[in-house]
Amino acid sequence: MNRLTTIFLSVVIAVAVVGFFVGLGQGVPQPDGMLDTAMVAQLDHETIQKNPKLIPAVSYSQIADTPMGPTKAWQSMSQTLSKPQYDLYTKFEQSEAEKEASSKLRASRRAFNGAPPVIAHPVENTTDAACYACHGNGVKMAGLKASVMSHEFLGNCVQCHAPMAPTPFRSLDATVQTSFVGLPAPKQGKRAYQGAPPTIPHSQWMRQNCSACHGGPNGWAGMQSTHPWRTNCTQCHAPSASLDQMPDADSVPMLPPLEVVAK
Ligand code: HEC
Ligand code: HEC
Ligand code: HEC
Ligand code: HEC
Repeated sequence: MNRLTTIFLSVVIAVAVVGFFVGLGQGVPQPDGMLDTAMVAQLDHETIQKNPKLIPAVSYSQIADTPMGPTKAWQSMSQTLSKPQYDLYTKFEQSEAEKEASSKLRASRRAFNGAPPVIAHPVENTTDAACYACHGNGVKMAGLKASVMSHEFLGNCVQCHAPMAPTPFRSLDATVQTSFVGLPAPKQGKRAYQGAPPTIPHSQWMRQNCSACHGGPNGWAGMQSTHPWRTNCTQCHAPSASLDQMPDADSVPMLPPLEVVAK
């Protein structure tokens, strides 16, 4: 009796396994009559691809990366957004007034020089991709300029960049008494002689992308260099001796000195 059960079960399992592989080999089952319909029967794969109304069936694993439906042509990657036309060699007048205005606007968004600027607009979507779509290369919209990220890509933008307070709280005075005074923002780099390239008066920490501020279509007005096409900036502009070239660079690399100026 026991032996018969074993033989019977072995046969059942063997048939099931064979059936499984035969099934796999035959591919996705088609609904009955599908291949007989006038529309599909005579069409080969190429024709189906060319007719936008016929959507070829894809496997489950292909669904995620197959664009379908009316939004098929939309691109969700910032790399594929159109870039502004910009002539690197445009001549422009450097204006002290513009530089002054840009410095003021920048300072108004920072707790101190070098601090991450607050987000100057309401935030609906706090995912990095949303921020990056506008701040990856910068854009101009409605007379405003979204500045280019000055540092490399860092995840979780709102960890450092604080969103604006919600409207009802915007008029509240939330200042906290503190004696902290940040280091003054640098104005100009030192030069060995007139006409020599100025040294970089600020640290390169979080400012790796020089053209975010000093050039490009979305840089800061008045702060552009006259030569945005010279790509290797530090070939001529020496990094700051006290901020970036500390002999004991391992201790606090690239950070400004930590002493605080009391008022
Ligand atoms: C639709 C485009 C768009 C998106 C999306 C967007 N921003 Fe902005 N951002 C702007 C514009 C335009 C300005 C300039 C506003 C102004 O000058 O009043 C700006 C200003 C800023 C500033 C001030 C920059 C400075 O140097 O003064 C920061 C910081 C900022 N945004 C961070 C973010 C973060 C973080 C996100 C994602 C949560 C984000 N933005 C999403 C368009 C955008
Ligand atoms: C670890 C903290 C940190 C994270 C995370 C971070 N940032 Fe920043 N960001 C900074 C600091 C600090 C500065 C200021 C650099 C300066 O002015 O010296 C800055 C500057 C900026 C600026 C202004 C550049 C200018 O013109 O002055 C933009 C725009 C910006 N970040 C966008 C982003 C976006 C978008 C993300 C997310 C993808 C992000 N940041 C993630 C710290 C951060
Ligand atoms: C977040 C914005 C920002 C980034 C990024 C940045 N800088 Fe600056 N830079 C400034 C500001 C602000 C000043 C102050 C003088 C001014 O207003 O032009 C300055 C000044 C300078 C000066 C002195 C200009 C003069 O007239 O004496 C040099 C040179 C310079 N930067 C080079 C660089 C280089 C090289 C890089 C890339 C490693 C860089 N900067 C990245 C904002 C930036
Ligand atoms: C081949 C050498 C060289 C390279 C590379 C170079 N610069 Fe300069 N830069 C100079 C010289 C020389 C001056 C001084 C020009 C003057 O005083 O007329 C200068 C001046 C500047 C100034 C002050 C404003 C101005 O234009 O006079 C800024 C800001 C600046 N450079 C930024 C940059 C940035 C950002 C880069 C990288 C994209 C860069 N430079 C690459 C040589 C160079």
